[in-house]
Amino acid sequence: MKAQIIDGKAIANQINRETAELVARAAADGDKIGLAVVLVGSDPASCVYVRNKVRACAEVGIVSRQITLPETCATADVLRVIGELNADPAIHGILVQSPPPPQIDEAAVILAISPDKDVDCFSERNVGRVLIGEKPGFKPCTPWGVMELLRRSHVDPAGKHAVIIGRSNIVGKPMAALLLQKAAGANATVTVVHSGTPDIARFTRDADILIAAIGKPRFVRGDMIKPGAVVIDVGINRVFDPELGKNRLVGDVNFAEASEVASLITPVPGGVGPMTIAMLLRNTLSSYFFSREKK
Ligand code: GUN
Repeated sequence: MKAQIIDGKAIANQINRETAELVARAAADGDKIGLAVVLVGSDPASCVYVRNKVRACAEVGIVSRQITLPETCATADVLRVIGELNADPAIHGILVQSPPPPQIDEAAVILAISPDKDVDCFSERNVGRVLIGEKPGFKPCTPWGVMELLRRSHVDPAGKHAVIIGRSNIVGKPMAALLLQKAAGANATVTVVHSGTPDIARFTRDADILIAAIGKPRFVRGDMIKPGAVVIDVGINRVFDPELGKNRLVGDVNFAEASEVASLITPVPGGVGPMTIAMLLRNTLSSYFFSREKK
């Protein structure tokens, strides 16, 4: 084991302490900050994520409101709930846990959330603002979490070759947008590889910063990594471990192999995962500040 571990849990705890302090200041002004978490159905992984988000809110003093809709509900039912939350001044952030059941038109749901309360940063307006680099505004939670992990680990992406594996709307695309901004803490040369890229390893071997977000367990092998690279593993995959005799979480990176080659690496769990929620709480806090500016 050569690589140093980036402790995402410790960094997220630090950010949450900073958030809690600002939430407490708002409370001293008589203000409460509210996040609505909408869960459609009972997908086990989504239930865990929602529970973690609700618990994290309580830890920093944000008031959470969980709304659970039945598995068989229609898009119109979700849109009605969102309409109510959009109009509710006690709610500063709204998120609908993804993925919803297949009958739900997720694009319509995302469009319905007021961009002013879109703390996931999924809406057209907010995605566009991130791409343009407009400030202030919401930032996409997982990619922002990665940027904070790098910043707080003293890794400056400027001038480095960052290679992102995966082009999802939640991670790959917004990750590229944040890393290539002409701004302090960014300014990387960015390559995005994906399922349509022949010979992915040709690109990953040139990465100074390698970000894996494809949802394939242990996809990145040691020989795909440049010696001394910084490796960020966004994957959360549930796999059966025959030694344990039960399921466990693994990332998109073969940790045992990668940690012999990389200089810095995030573990799974305890790397990027806690950061996503920390940044969601940050966006919710920002939403409160933006709403105050508008008054
Ligand atoms: N599912 C996986 N990641 C996310 C996320 O960041 N936000 C929401 N709403 N759903 C998700």
